[in-house]
Amino acid sequence: MQFSTKTTAPEKTRTGCAILPVLGGKPTASGKAIDAACGGAIVAAIARGDLAAKAGSTLLVGLPGSIERVLLVSLGDTGPVTEKTFTDAARAALRSLQGTGARDAVSWLGDIKVTGHGAGWKARTQALVARDLAYRFETMKSKPESAPRGPGSLAIGCERTDASAINAELKVATALSDGTDLARDLGNLPGNVCTPAYLADTARKLGKQFGLKVEVLERKQMESLKMGSLLAVAQGSDLPPKFIVIRYEGAAAKTAPIVLVGKGITFDTGGISLKPAPEMDEMKFDMCGAASVLGTMRAIAAIGPRVNLIGVIPACENMPSGRATRPGDVVTSMSGQTIEILNTDAEGRLILCDALTYVERFKPAAVVDIATLTGACVIALGNHHSGLFTRSDALASELAGCGQDASDTCWRMPLDDEYQEGLKSNFADMGNVGGRAGGAVTAACFLARFTKAYEWAHLDIAGTAWKSGAQKGASGRPVGLLTRFVLGRAAS
Ligand code: BES
Ligand code: MN
Ligand code: ZN
Repeated sequence: MQFSTKTTAPEKTRTGCAILPVLGGKPTASGKAIDAACGGAIVAAIARGDLAAKAGSTLLVGLPGSIERVLLVSLGDTGPVTEKTFTDAARAALRSLQGTGARDAVSWLGDIKVTGHGAGWKARTQALVARDLAYRFETMKSKPESAPRGPGSLAIGCERTDASAINAELKVATALSDGTDLARDLGNLPGNVCTPAYLADTARKLGKQFGLKVEVLERKQMESLKMGSLLAVAQGSDLPPKFIVIRYEGAAAKTAPIVLVGKGITFDTGGISLKPAPEMDEMKFDMCGAASVLGTMRAIAAIGPRVNLIGVIPACENMPSGRATRPGDVVTSMSGQTIEILNTDAEGRLILCDALTYVERFKPAAVVDIATLTGACVIALGNHHSGLFTRSDALASELAGCGQDASDTCWRMPLDDEYQEGLKSNFADMGNVGGRAGGAVTAACFLARFTKAYEWAHLDIAGTAWKSGAQKGASGRPVGLLTRFVLGRAAS
């Protein structure tokens, strides 16, 4: 989908569809101008009661002139409207638009005042919603299910003075959507396609396309680095593990990088601590942390900010086999700390801990790991907020703010040393699981033992990375949050 701006007078515009907001039963200035030029058809339709007053209601009206049709969308009774009302109305309008035959559309939803936001935010929101609605995952179907519908381009009607700011936002929204779509595609691909090698190839392709440096460490190199914890998870699988490092260099070499570490379990059976059969298919989504790192790298590389960003992905499968780790096995992590693997299904932390030790060499400005780490986080927070864990109050508020701004929210959880007690082991420096209580917190506490050398935050995306049920599919979260975070660091 192509996005642009339109600064011509509304009534002089030539388009397949004009999207016009209606607030308190009245069109805005753009709508009035078009209404006057088409003999009052819009006001008449509203007066007839054809457009419900409830925010998000839509009405399509065919016109005779250079504007083939108008799509009216209600924004409720009074302005200014909230973020949510605006976003929901934009979604409703763009969804109805998909059902029309319009080849292109111009939106004047920006006429509506939104509390706390300007023209750029309104344009960005519409572009992101349009791309979200346009997303399809049909590569695994023998023939496409739905013929592509809806317009191929959307212009944002605006004042000439706002056009360049809006165009900049549209460029960012396109890059962000491309990154989010990549993360969704990777998440949605099945475990027999999206293997550790597939993730490595995807990173290499991104590298070629955007001029990123990509390095993929093989099992041998992981052995030399003494990544005993990561290798213990990988050893049950017939597929070789890959350790992916992908770098975007937008700032001076001496500028400390931001490092993103993504959990890349391409399928999590639980290993010898085998998971129950129901919904086990959803464990193909256990690499959504890795997918979000690749998606963010793509978005950032396309935008090109002055920042250094490194993505690190430990990738392997968690399978049961004669070579698999047994419960009770003790392994030595790259940090030298020993771990009693009490439950082979708590494998995410086992691959992340070695990656978190590895990244010390980058002397990072900040490290954020992203992982579908615990079912307990889903119990704690449901499917709205990702879990945010960090010792740093500053980093916590920074990430929470980015989540708000990107409508990709996270909620801070505790990380006190009191919770460390659960990880005591009689046989090693630590066990890999605490009790059932506070499971998301003890998982984060485990990671905290490996992140003392730098400022660090952990995002548990188990509840937000994908949807279950009829809408089953990857969400692409938290590419939005992470991209905001990296862009914020670049600006400061
Ligand atoms: N990938 C899972 C976490 C998960 C489970 C995410 C269900 C989303 C839905 C992780 O590897 C795991 O199995 N965690 C265990 C940890 C437990 C053994 C301490 C869990 O959450 O049950
Ligand atoms: Mn697991
Ligand atoms: Zn897992």
